[in-house]
Amino acid sequence: AFNRAHFTQSAPSIRECPPESGREVAFAGRSNAGKSSAINTLTNNSKLARTSKTPGRTQLINYFELTEDTRLVDLPGYGYAKVSLAMKQKWQANLSEYLHERRCLTGLVVVMDIRHPMQEFDTMVINWAVETNMPVHLLLTKADKLKKGPANSVLLDIKKQLREAEVDDLISVQMFSSLKKTGLDELKIKLSSWLLE
Ligand code: GTP
Ligand code: MG
Repeated sequence: AFNRAHFTQSAPSIRECPPESGREVAFAGRSNAGKSSAINTLTNNSKLARTSKTPGRTQLINYFELTEDTRLVDLPGYGYAKVSLAMKQKWQANLSEYLHERRCLTGLVVVMDIRHPMQEFDTMVINWAVETNMPVHLLLTKADKLKKGPANSVLLDIKKQLREAEVDDLISVQMFSSLKKTGLDELKIKLSSWLLE
């Protein structure tokens, strides 16, 4: 089903997103973390979501339909420096509302650069999800930028943090690389369990 993904619409804000139906999974994360690239790798379509070297590429909420009833959602990155504080606060409120109120959202993928995981805003978004019992999958992407040993120790450290916080039943984590397609099967299995079962 992932290979059949196609763009359906862009929404400037949560209020304009499609009516509640079926299921959707959203990709959140800091600007430039690699959200759009991960969606393209997942769907085996390098032209689906616009990617860019310049942070802040995705400014609208983009919807990609997998089947009539299931969608992937590419969210604008948070923490984009050039956006005003007022815009950032508005976006935070919007994202919080989306996570708390969107009933068809069955899971959240939090995309983080493996070299800079669990930054302040990531933790905040994860906490919102936990508040609402929303399953979260942490995608440690750009794994190709680290050697195996250091990459593994980041993964193990985050797993340990999740166990200690007793949220490992709700939050899972994996390594990923859009460049090398590392972890693609693992991601597909996770998203299938959220969307297709
Ligand atoms: P915004 O839309 O600005 O929030 O960014 P984004 O999170 O969608 O990031 P995007 O997918 O556009 O990727 C940002 C940059 O990182 C691009 O130059 C990508 O080519 C690069 N990139 C993304 N994933 C990987 C990866 O797994 N490995 C490497 N080496 N580069 C990656
Ligand atoms: Mg993007």
